[in-house]
Amino acid sequence: MTLEFRAAQIADATSIAALHAGSWLVPRDEYSPGPILDERKAVWHERLSAPPANQFVVVAEEDRRFAAFVCAYGADDSRWGTLLDNLHVRSAWQGRGLGRSLMARAADWCIAKYPESGLYLSVLEQNKRARAFYERLGATDGGGETWVPPGFIDAPSRRYAWERYQVAMIRGLAGDGTD
Ligand SMILES: CC(C)(COP(=O)(O)OP(=O)(O)OC[C@H]1O[C@@H](n2cnc3c(N)ncnc32)[C@H](O)[C@@H]1OP(=O)(O)O)[C@@H](O)C(=O)NCCC(=O)NCCS
Repeated sequence: MTLEFRAAQIADATSIAALHAGSWLVPRDEYSPGPILDERKAVWHERLSAPPANQFVVVAEEDRRFAAFVCAYGADDSRWGTLLDNLHVRSAWQGRGLGRSLMARAADWCIAKYPESGLYLSVLEQNKRARAFYERLGATDGGGETWVPPGFIDAPSRRYAWERYQVAMIRGLAGDGTD
């Protein structure tokens, strides 16, 4: 089994959109996948064909099969710093360290390119697994907020954050990012 991490390309837009939409739909069995998938495809096509200068998107593949991706925006917020916008691992690959490896890569990029920035993200309050994952990597629960992803009417969420001086801790807690 060969695990590979590489910068996302435009050809990855459909795989990324399908995984992204699928993750959102898991807690919402009744929601039709069509509109949300189309919306995500358009978003990812745009993001990867005309990437903003502060965009970071890395995909993980095992034996050339798409397994996971991470997306971040450098120095996105004057208080909280770099936004970890997306981190998704396909279900068959979950619990095998891919999330940690991608977090390690995002932290390395953040430290190299935006050393004055912390790192932050929003996660749905009901997503206990992801919250435990971020806590395991040293994030501080910064409290409740309201986030409205497409297809959700009311989505209570939490903000998790690492201050600038804590970003290096992610790398330490995530391991060397090559497992
Ligand atoms: C959350 C997610 C990114 C984690 O990625 P992953 O590859 O499954 O996680 P890893 O295998 O790297 O686990 C890293 C650590 O997280 C913790 N963790 C993972 N799953 C956990 C769970 N169910 N409960 C508690 N801790 C958990 C473990 O402590 C693990 O550390 P360990 O290896 O020392 O035990 C992944 O499960 C996922 O994509 N979920 C669906 C999409 C999603 O919710 N994304 C986040 C949106 S904000």
